[in-house]
Amino acid sequence: MVQWWRDAVIYQIYPRSFADANGDGVGDIDGIRARLGHLRDLGVDAIWMSPWYPSPMADAGYDVADFRDIDPVFGTLAGAEALITEAHEAGLRMIVDIVPNHVSSEHPWFKAALADPDAKERDYFWFRPGRGAEMPTNWRGEFGGTTWTQAPDGEWYLHLFTPEQPDLNWEHPDVRAEFEDILRFWFDRGVDGIRIDSAALLLKDTALPEVIDDAPHPFHDQEGIHDVYRAWRRVADEYEDRALIGEVWMPEVDRFARYLRPDELHAAFNFDFLGCAWDPGLMRACIDRTLHAHAAIGAPATWVLSNHDVTRHVTRYGRSDTTFSFDNNLDGTPVDLELGTRRARAAALLSLSLPGATYVYQGEELGLWENENIPVAEYHDPMWGRRGHSRDGCRVPLPWSGDEPPFDFTTGQPWLPQPAEWKDRTVQAQTGDPSSMLELYRAAIGLRRAEEGLHRSTMAWFDAAPKVLAYTRGPGFACVLNMSDAPVPLPAHRSCLLASGPLDGTSLPPDTAVWLRL
Ligand code: NOJ
Repeated sequence: MVQWWRDAVIYQIYPRSFADANGDGVGDIDGIRARLGHLRDLGVDAIWMSPWYPSPMADAGYDVADFRDIDPVFGTLAGAEALITEAHEAGLRMIVDIVPNHVSSEHPWFKAALADPDAKERDYFWFRPGRGAEMPTNWRGEFGGTTWTQAPDGEWYLHLFTPEQPDLNWEHPDVRAEFEDILRFWFDRGVDGIRIDSAALLLKDTALPEVIDDAPHPFHDQEGIHDVYRAWRRVADEYEDRALIGEVWMPEVDRFARYLRPDELHAAFNFDFLGCAWDPGLMRACIDRTLHAHAAIGAPATWVLSNHDVTRHVTRYGRSDTTFSFDNNLDGTPVDLELGTRRARAAALLSLSLPGATYVYQGEELGLWENENIPVAEYHDPMWGRRGHSRDGCRVPLPWSGDEPPFDFTTGQPWLPQPAEWKDRTVQAQTGDPSSMLELYRAAIGLRRAEEGLHRSTMAWFDAAPKVLAYTRGPGFACVLNMSDAPVPLPAHRSCLLASGPLDGTSLPPDTAVWLRL
C-alpha cells in the first residue's frame, strides 16, 4: 500500500475553466486530455476533478442529475475513461467529486418524488407539510435564504443550497446503497480517490428542530454521519490504495478530526489554513493546531490556499486588511496585486513544505488573481442574489498562451471574461522565466519529490527573528518565511535550494520564503 494521499500534491481541475477543445467557450474533457502535459511538467501527483456529471448547472455541476455519466458540455463517459487511463499513463492519480448531500431537481429520483406523493422516491428526500402557511423549519440555507420550497402538491421539500438541489434523506437505506454503488462505479473505472462534497451536512436531526444558539445543530455534524463514512471506508478498502477526502468545514478541530478516524475518511480539507490571515502568530498557531489534531489521529494534514469557492489568495493576501473572510471581495478594500503575488509565492513554499498533502487550485501555479471586474450581468453563481457574493471571480478560464483573451483557452467566447492583464500570466509567457510563479511551482514540486526530508518526516520549529516562521523537515532541510516588514538574517545553512523572491545578500526580505539545505 503506497498511501499516496498522505503526501501527494493534488491539483484541482475546475473543468468548465481548464481548457476548451470544442470551441463552445466551456472547458471539457478533451481540453484536459490535450493539456495533461502541463500537469506532468508541473510535477503534481494527482488530479481532483470538480463535478463533470450531467447537470442543469444550477450550481455549476454541484447539482447532479446522474452520477454515472458525463455532462455533454464536458464530453462522454468514454472520454472520461480515456482521461483516467491517460492520466495514469502520465503518472497522475485521479480523484472525482461526489455530491452526496443533494441531487439535482432533474435527478430521476426527485422527478419521481414530485410526480407522485406516494412514490417510494418521496422518502429519499425531506418532504414535510408546512406549519400553516409557514415553512417546516426556520433553517437558513448555506447560500443564505430559506431552505424549503413548496411542491405543487402543497408539501415543502428541504434544500440546504438552492431549490434546484433537494437534500437527500440519508436515513433511507436505498440512499446509502445507491452511493456505495456509485463509489464502486468510479473505483471500478480506476479512480484513485473520491472528494466528498459538503461532507458534514448529510444527516439531519429527524425531529427537524429549529436552529437555536447553543443547542445542538440540526443538520451540521450529526453523530450518525460517521456510520455513513465507515461504510464508505469499507467500500474503498475493497480496492487497492483508494482515498476518501472530505470537504469538512468545521472550526472545532476535535470534531473535525473525528472524520479522520482510522475506519473513516483518509483526509479532509484544511479550511483553517485557507482562512488564516497573513499573520505570523495566527499562521503558526494554525499550523500547530492542524498538525496536533492530525497526529493524534494518525491522519495526514492537508494544506489548501485556494479553491473554486473562495477569493483567490493572490487577491486575499494583497489586501491591506489581512483578515480573510469568505465574502471579502465585497468590502471594497484596495488590492495590491504585487504584494499579494509576493506573499502567494512565499505561501507556495510554505504549503509545499509542511508535512502532509498539498492542494493546488488550477491557476494558482500561474499566480492568477480574483477577477473582481466581471459585470454583474455575466455572473453565473447562484450564491449571487442569495448572499450578495459571487464565486465567479475565482472560476475564470485559464490563460494558456497569446497576448489577449481568450489566451488559447478556447477558440470561441470564454464563459467568463478573462482580465487582459493575464497576458503576462499565461503558461507560455511564464515557461522558461525563472522569476515566474509557474517556474517557482515547478521547481518547488520537483524539489519536494527529490527531497527525502519532505516526504513523511515531521517538522520542528526553530528560533528565528520575531515574525519569522522557521522549521526543519528531517535533518538537512529548513523552510524560513519572513512575515515581518523588515529584512532578517538567514540562519546558518549550507546552500539555498529555492527562494520565493530575490534575496538581499544573506538576508531574507519581507514576505519572502526560502528552502535551505542545512
Ligand atoms: C461545496 C462546493 O465546493 C460548492 O461549490 C457547492 O456550491 C456546494 N458544496 C454545494 O454542493
